[in-house]
Amino acid sequence: MSDLRVIDLRSDTVTRPTPAMRRAMAEAEVGDDVYGEDPTVRRLEERVAEMLGKEASLFLPSGTMGNTIGIKLHTRHGEEVVCDHRAHILDWEMSMTAWFSGCLARPVPTEDGVLRWSDIEPVIRPRTGFPAPTAMVNIEHPHNMGGGTLYPIEGIEAICDRAHERGLKVHMDGARLFNAVAASGETAARIVARTDTVMFCLSKGLGAPVGSMLAGDAATMAEARLYRKRLGGGMRQAGILAAAGLVALEDSPGHLPEDHANAKLMAERIGLDPAKIQTNIVIFDIARTGLAPAEFLARLKSCGVLAGAVGGSRIRLVTHYDVSREDCLRAAGAIASLLEIRPPA
Ligand SMILES: Cc1ncc(COP(=O)(O)O)c(C=O)c1O
Repeated sequence: MSDLRVIDLRSDTVTRPTPAMRRAMAEAEVGDDVYGEDPTVRRLEERVAEMLGKEASLFLPSGTMGNTIGIKLHTRHGEEVVCDHRAHILDWEMSMTAWFSGCLARPVPTEDGVLRWSDIEPVIRPRTGFPAPTAMVNIEHPHNMGGGTLYPIEGIEAICDRAHERGLKVHMDGARLFNAVAASGETAARIVARTDTVMFCLSKGLGAPVGSMLAGDAATMAEARLYRKRLGGGMRQAGILAAAGLVALEDSPGHLPEDHANAKLMAERIGLDPAKIQTNIVIFDIARTGLAPAEFLARLKSCGVLAGAVGGSRIRLVTHYDVSREDCLRAAGAIASLLEIRPPA
């Protein structure tokens, strides 16, 4: 392994800032953003609001904070949030829905993480005095643990319209929103048009070192600013980080189709149906090898490839701009030979 470059497919969060981002960071004009005086943060927030067709947006340290604030804005203690059964908000955010917003998550089983209104409607609970009433729906698009899967645009619109008719809000966990844009050909503005709030991350496939954005109407974002401060997310000369985010928004979306093609290529090489790979995430099952995930990952690491265990016997690979087509071919070769391993009789 020593002479091989390590191919890190654990997540698209491992990307390092590009030279253009580092230059922009070094030269960023800054001020105290808690006083609303950082011109680079303001520029980023205005640019994102414009791209998404929303009135306002807010720069945040992380996607978890964006989802936490989104849920808090749309709920009161004792209410329910409908999500799919593998949602990031349910499994990977330290139960902030309960801890910060005092709400129950109502998970709905889905095949691939993609909810339909017909899945949601039966679990909506009324304000009759017995159940915890439903307040909002969370849409994760693309869906991480579903394998980077996408909602059809009509599905998003139908969920938003039907939810609004029932008095429910819709938050989109769009951590990888620009992967959805690249894969679907829809604009970001169209995808999020009917949502009440949307969060996306600058620090995943877009490659910025830190940061996520939350967007919505101006009054909602003014309230979001207060929750950001409560959660300790008021940053001072944050323009240094926002500057990298501005470069990421300009430079990175054009590279995402390459990441998607690399994910398809790996899927094909390890015996999955490439047609099922919609963005930059590949999830596969290792049960047939008889290896525990930790052992499988250790053997892969010894071949110079890093991947992640995501529950049960499932392993996840995520492509990004720091791994090339050649890297992906090499990684897929290593995985394919490990998958040949048969459990002892
Ligand atoms: C779908 C989804 N939502 C939210 C997040 C949270 O982002 P962060 O790690 O910046 O808190 C992630 C992170 O992987 C994610 O995949």
